[in-house]
Amino acid sequence: MSTEVRHPIFARLYARMSPRVDAKGGAEHRRELLAGLSGRVLELGAGNGLTFPYYPDAVSEVVAIEPEAYLRDRAHEAAAASRIRVTVVDAVADRLPFPDESFDAAVASLVLCSVPDQPAALAELRRILRPTGELRFYEHVRPSNPRTAALWQRFDDWNIYPRIAGGCHAARDTEGAIRAAGFTIESCRRFPFKGGPVSAPHILGTARR
Ligand SMILES: C[S@@+](CC[C@H](N)C(=O)[O-])C[C@H]1O[C@@H](n2cnc3c(N)ncnc32)[C@H](O)[C@@H]1O
Repeated sequence: MSTEVRHPIFARLYARMSPRVDAKGGAEHRRELLAGLSGRVLELGAGNGLTFPYYPDAVSEVVAIEPEAYLRDRAHEAAAASRIRVTVVDAVADRLPFPDESFDAAVASLVLCSVPDQPAALAELRRILRPTGELRFYEHVRPSNPRTAALWQRFDDWNIYPRIAGGCHAARDTEGAIRAAGFTIESCRRFPFKGGPVSAPHILGTARR
């Protein structure tokens, strides 16, 4: 069993707050994120399983990894109530316990901000995707304004934001990291959204392996 990700206070806060954020627009983003998916899908860091209700019927199976124990228990509960078959697994993003090319699609929802090693996580996602596989992403990212970005970068570098937000980083260039990992971005919509204490730019899109 993985014991590497422990955020007991954040996990409980997230489980309580995230449905409220979904009620204010997050749920629509999840629906858009997953629209048109089919086949066998890996979901990275599924948290309390808020995406599960939005998988289309054409998805045959979702394998959802979640390393944080409290959130994983909540994900198991969400999986039990899901129309789609969802298997929840205790694992971390930079060592996915799955063979090469074993998934049709991968989903990263508000998680590439939190993984400690973003390039390693993206390399793992490319590895487990079939050659035509796609990565769907919905992430908050670094602000475009250079002064704001520099300030948020300091919050990350000084471990202020990660410490209060369960390892989350405020200033990551996740779109750039997806490209750098070798994916081809097919669509990427950028928009402001208040998923946390302040509004942050979010990206939502599709990248091809
Ligand atoms: C902000 S929550 C998002 C949860 C969920 N994906 C959602 O959309 O609501 C970030 C998630 O990343 C998970 N996480 C943190 N480090 C991780 C890692 N190394 N590998 C996989 N997931 C991780 C956390 O446990 C948490 O569930």
